[in-house]
Amino acid sequence: MDKFPQNVILSGVSMISSTNHGGIIEHETLDSVKIGYFENSNLPLEIQETRCKRLINKHNECVYDDNVKLTRWRKLVYNATLNSVCTLTGVDVGRLELWGANDTITRKAMREVLEIAKSNGVEVPESTIEEMLGQMGFITHHMLVDIRKGNYIEVEVILGNAVRTAMRNGVVCPILTLIYNLLRVVQMRTKEAKGAITVPP
Ligand SMILES: *[C@@H]1O[C@H](CO)[C@@H](O)[C@H](O)[C@H]1NC(C)=O
Ligand SMILES: *[C@@H]1O[C@H](CO)[C@@H](O)[C@H](O)[C@H]1NC(C)=O
Repeated sequence: MDKFPQNVILSGVSMISSTNHGGIIEHETLDSVKIGYFENSNLPLEIQETRCKRLINKHNECVYDDNVKLTRWRKLVYNATLNSVCTLTGVDVGRLELWGANDTITRKAMREVLEIAKSNGVEVPESTIEEMLGQMGFITHHMLVDIRKGNYIEVEVILGNAVRTAMRNGVVCPILTLIYNLLRVVQMRTKEAKGAITVPP
């Protein structure tokens, strides 16, 4: 918005749910993409809405999203917490839940996401937490799959941006901050393994 004050800025949130169980791909729910505009106060809202809707047609099955900021934060309630913790512990969400993480980690971390969203002007309903916790199959998240393949992980978008928003807005989020910093170490480990960095002898 600062760099492109006269542009319409769109945001797309995709949900994909497929998982590989021993070579068999299960496509658990239909994929979806929601697209909305990030309100730019320099432009009339109708223009932003029209431009956004122009992208949506019967071929791509995108859905117009009139509150994409809420959709983004809702997605993070799940992904900033479960995806990250599963990546650190090396288990799928089903095992994480089975072994007691609902109370000890997940709900607390999810509540922090709600607080950060609120500081960003977005009220994510409290009920989202139980809703997300209720949908956990034995799914291995993409960041964990990336670790297993020796790839980099998208920790900055999944967690880094949320933690930075918290710092800017003075929100205390000890659990997410710790998870984020642990994952950054994991990312450095991958960098070293790929030869992208070296450590002093
Ligand atoms: C988590 O993020 C992945 C990758 O963007 C996405 O496919 C998945 O649908 C997300 N899960 C939720 C519940 O938002
Ligand atoms: C975790 O929370 C969800 C949602 O409330 C619930 O359905 C599930 O049974 C809980 N799991 C455990 C092991 O308590």
